[in-house]
Amino acid sequence: MHDDIKLVSGEEIVKPTGEVHVVYFSSISNNTHRFIQKLSVKNSRIPYELEEEINVDSDYVLITPTYSGGGEFTSGAVPKQVIKFLNKENNRNYCRGVIASGNTNFGNTFAMAGPILSKKLNVPLLYQFELLGTQNDVEKINEILKEFWGE
Ligand SMILES: Cc1cc2nc3c(=O)[nH]c(=O)nc-3n(C[C@H](O)[C@H](O)[C@H](O)COP(=O)(O)O)c2cc1C
Repeated sequence: MHDDIKLVSGEEIVKPTGEVHVVYFSSISNNTHRFIQKLSVKNSRIPYELEEEINVDSDYVLITPTYSGGGEFTSGAVPKQVIKFLNKENNRNYCRGVIASGNTNFGNTFAMAGPILSKKLNVPLLYQFELLGTQNDVEKINEILKEFWGE
């Protein structure tokens, strides 16, 4: 595990309430977008254009791909659109957990946006998957979300 990763412990975890809700980012390659369409939950997309924004006012799990250069280049791992979304205090405060995706070809930085955001927001990293995800990933995440919301 990366030296800088802090695990969120049991008592720190705040379980979400209300409707199961996923907020996600997906770039023009739309891998994450296509994956989200296979989940059977409410979802909201963080816009690609930085001038556009969304505001969230209920608990959600964030799903984001990773965009750093691989190897030692971890600086851009969290997409700038996601950073901008989370810079709004209200949006940030309703985030209860993180799921990240990536491509294992990137080696050490595979799905690195997940642990970075988990640490920053002090919420659990619930799952990581590759590219478009598999049917197994879809089933796992549907299950994880249901359980996380206590359904
Ligand atoms: C410029 C670039 C940098 C990337 N960097 C990483 C990386 O550091 N780690 C990783 O796991 N995946 C990395 N990826 C892979 C993407 O996270 C992956 O393709 C993801 O499915 C893209 O999702 P999207 O199409 O929804 O934007 C990178 C992809 C690109 C194009």
